[in-house]
Amino acid sequence: MAMLRLDMSMSLDGYVAGPNPSMEHPLGEGGEQLHQWAFAVAAWRERHGLSGGDRNPDSEVVDESVRDLGATIMGRSMFSGGHGSWASDPNANGWWGDDPPFHHPVFVLTHHARAPLPMQGGTTFTFVTDGPLAALEQARAAAGDKDVAIGGGANLVQQYLAAGLLDELQIHHVPVLLGGGTPLFANLDPGKVRFERGRVAESPTGVVHVKYRVLK
Ligand SMILES: NC(=O)c1ccc[n+]([C@@H]2O[C@H](COP(=O)([O-])OP(=O)(O)OC[C@H]3O[C@@H](n4cnc5c(N)ncnc54)[C@H](OP(=O)(O)O)[C@@H]3O)[C@@H](O)[C@H]2O)c1
Repeated sequence: MAMLRLDMSMSLDGYVAGPNPSMEHPLGEGGEQLHQWAFAVAAWRERHGLSGGDRNPDSEVVDESVRDLGATIMGRSMFSGGHGSWASDPNANGWWGDDPPFHHPVFVLTHHARAPLPMQGGTTFTFVTDGPLAALEQARAAAGDKDVAIGGGANLVQQYLAAGLLDELQIHHVPVLLGGGTPLFANLDPGKVRFERGRVAESPTGVVHVKYRVLK
């Protein structure tokens, strides 16, 4: 059965973005350290239209995470970093340029309605204003028998975890401290959200990729 799954890079102190995210620092101050392992590998670079990169266990992890993926759901902050009306958002078409790396339908949860935004390479951003369940229904319909990913950020992940809708998480544990920022596992009832550890993949860069099944 198709799954709802998530991949996120997290610091040792539990943050998925550093303090003070901005146009200059979309991942917050120091947050880019979370993704150095991915930037360096062939599988990530290929999806972003870049050449080169290492073919190593980290690259295999990226390959595996995008395999059989038919749609992605993300929050408006991950999409553009903006707030309020789209007219006042300096990054209203997202971070990724004309050919975003998703290559499938992407559903952006927002309180601000707007028409779908088709991009090159098979990515269309559809803006969903009627909540996480509606976004999931649309994403599942678009994905067919493939999996749906929650792209982030933390706010969205917390909503899908709290609603018991997420099937699997893969956390890329990065051995750095950010000292503050956006915690992944906030605003959750520890008695209601439980996990079972799945496969663990170590990497030459010191990152540990751990899958967790969400117990229903
Ligand atoms: N480490 C990683 O792997 C990773 C991965 C992805 C993202 N990130 C980082 O995470 C940060 C963003 O995460 P975040 O937690 O701040 O925000 P987020 O989850 O990306 O987006 C939150 C925003 O989405 C909209 N939204 C959320 N739930 C909604 C609902 N039920 N109905 C309607 N709209 C809804 C709201 O925007 P509006 O009210 O403005 O419409 C809300 O402010 C960024 O810094 C990003 O770089 C890190």
